[in-house]
Amino acid sequence: MYVHSFHAGNLLKMKCLIACEYSGRLRDAMIDRGHNAWSCDLLPSEGEHKNHHLQCDVFEVLDSNWDMVIAFPPCTHLASSGARWFSEKREDGRQQAGTDFFMEFVAWHQRTLKPLAIENPVGIMSTHYRKPDQIIHPWMFGHGETKATCLWLHGLPILNPTNIVEGRVPRIWKMPPSEDRAKLRSLTYVGIAQAMATQWGNARHTEKTPNKTTPDESGASPEH
Ligand SMILES: C[S@@+](CC[C@H](N)C(=O)[O-])C[C@H]1O[C@@H](n2cnc3c(N)ncnc32)[C@H](O)[C@@H]1O
Repeated sequence: MYVHSFHAGNLLKMKCLIACEYSGRLRDAMIDRGHNAWSCDLLPSEGEHKNHHLQCDVFEVLDSNWDMVIAFPPCTHLASSGARWFSEKREDGRQQAGTDFFMEFVAWHQRTLKPLAIENPVGIMSTHYRKPDQIIHPWMFGHGETKATCLWLHGLPILNPTNIVEGRVPRIWKMPPSEDRAKLRSLTYVGIAQAMATQWGNARHTEKTPNKTTPDESGASPEH
């Protein structure tokens, strides 16, 4: 058994892994709120705090004593938008590789009992794993666009809308083909990153052993 409590205005500095993030948007929002946040991606980082980026396979650093993980695993072989290729991807093993990748984060939570959020578009994980805890859209967080985005939450609260606006433009859906289309489509919206950092940045994890301290208060190294 474990308990999570949430302390508004009583910030616990957390060592967080933002897994599969190249943009640095959530990492920077967490750092701006005082956390020791690190992004990890195979790609180089964008954003302000590039010195807090681990350019490597995320599974090399997943077991580095994080207080919380927020993961944006690749959705190419999982998202319903690619359903016409599913049978081919099932046969050649790409879909299995995609689900295994996603489930590695669930296994991390089961090992550590630490807070975890996984973000992915609508797709097969709703049946392969379980239904998401919520589906959000950018228009709930200040961007007048639609993009159904699933969140699977483990020891974290539902993300409350911060700024519901009127626009419902399907910009992502209509994005024309280009070399970096997939990269642009996967970019986290700033308003959603801000909401995650504000609302989940105060998630305090309490295991059976009380008064567990944050492993790395220095901010200097992710200790991996
Ligand atoms: C759906 S995109 C998420 C992008 C994110 N929302 C952002 O704003 O940067 C998935 C990301 O996973 C990265 N990725 C794929 N395999 C990876 C691995 N083994 N380790 C780390 N990152 C990986 C890709 O490079 C891609 O940037």
